[in-house]
Amino acid sequence: MGQYPDAQRRNTAAAVSSTGSKLDSYVDRYATRTHGMTASEVRSLFAVASRPEVVSLAGGMPNISGLPLDVVGSLLSELIEKRGTTALQYGSGQGDPQLREQICDVMRPVGVHGHPDDVTVTVGSQQALDLITRIFIDPGDVILAEAPSYVGALSTFRSYQADVVHVEMDDDGLVPERVRQAIATVQASGRTIKFLYTIPNYHNPAGVTLTAQRRQEILGICQDAGVLIVEDDPYGLLGFDGDVPRAMRADDPEGVIYLGSFSKTFAPGFRVGWTLAPHAVREKLVLAAESSVLCPPAFSQLAVSEYLSGHDWRGQVKAFRELYRERCDAMLGALDDLMPAGAHWTRPRGGFYVWLTLPAGLDTKAMLPRAVTNRVAYVPGTAFYADGFGSRSMRLSFCYPTPDRIREGVRRLAQVIEQEMELRAAFGAAGASQRPGLDAPAPDQA
Ligand SMILES: Cc1ncc(COP(=O)(O)O)c(C=O)c1O
Repeated sequence: MGQYPDAQRRNTAAAVSSTGSKLDSYVDRYATRTHGMTASEVRSLFAVASRPEVVSLAGGMPNISGLPLDVVGSLLSELIEKRGTTALQYGSGQGDPQLREQICDVMRPVGVHGHPDDVTVTVGSQQALDLITRIFIDPGDVILAEAPSYVGALSTFRSYQADVVHVEMDDDGLVPERVRQAIATVQASGRTIKFLYTIPNYHNPAGVTLTAQRRQEILGICQDAGVLIVEDDPYGLLGFDGDVPRAMRADDPEGVIYLGSFSKTFAPGFRVGWTLAPHAVREKLVLAAESSVLCPPAFSQLAVSEYLSGHDWRGQVKAFRELYRERCDAMLGALDDLMPAGAHWTRPRGGFYVWLTLPAGLDTKAMLPRAVTNRVAYVPGTAFYADGFGSRSMRLSFCYPTPDRIREGVRRLAQVIEQEMELRAAFGAAGASQRPGLDAPAPDQA
């Protein structure tokens, strides 16, 4: 029995709906796995951050202002005219066969020659992360993940009660020696590593890209240790110079599950992503997908399929790349001009994000309300760690605002940081502990 007798609970429920009270009479009924499902501490600030006077360098929304909406509109109406009864019907749990073939073409530039049978279409790559975690993770199992890592993956891992062990990155991505050490340490403690989760290209949030040589080294380390790799690659086609790094999956089809998405190269509103997995894993993924959503939405899949076959999607990706490059240049130029000594940041060659680390003693979460008051917003670094590190760092997104707004946002941010540094010089500050790697460079770099 919960906190309230039944009659009282009914009354309380009525009171909740009429008063909007936050009382939760089911609080003792939730599964243990929900304990890790907490709202972001910065969510309330985001309501303020979305006001027009605030320059938000926080969100990671793709900039779809460049999409030809007239083309998309006529494509959708033709789809309903010609294939409406299929597009509005249930479909296969694994996803539309023609789209799966097209996805194999989309993966070719990254060196991946997959078979459509091994592709599973998902509701964005976020659902792929959920399905993979669901089929592999028992509570307490270990997932290795970069430090820092994608916040949406961390919340999925948390909801399945995984134990995330972070592995150091530097400007060249994951550090192979640290991967080796992490595997040895976890295995020596008798725990099971279920997979290594990595975003090798234009990392979210760090903005760095794993070098070709390190990809080979990490593949070798994981093969030797029997550790599966989950390669999450939503940004791989968005290299500013048109560079398309070779996927890790290209060199190890049995040891890597590859995740792709149309959210950044077309539009996130369709919610279409995919996995390419070793055959046996693919079977489990489809079973898990069917029990979760029956099938991915036919309408979205056919819309993406029509877009790929009837539109110059490669030209559109090139246009996106140029749009993001211009914004990234604006951000890096403004950081170079305006950031105080002691701050350092990554220099992305693609994607959406820069990772900025402040001088020792500053705390980006504590500073956020003051930044928002100064009409600029970012995401504090701790959001990207499962273990509380990252307090000196922040993620800055350049994908959405115009170049002028980005420069203005960085100017406001630099003011806030300088004020914080003055305060710290006057009153001192508790030094937060830092993880080595991107967040805490060697002293000569700081
Ligand atoms: C690294 C990474 N993985 C996965 C996703 C989820 O993307 P979607 O579900 O829209 O495909 C995102 C979204 O920002 C991301 O940055």
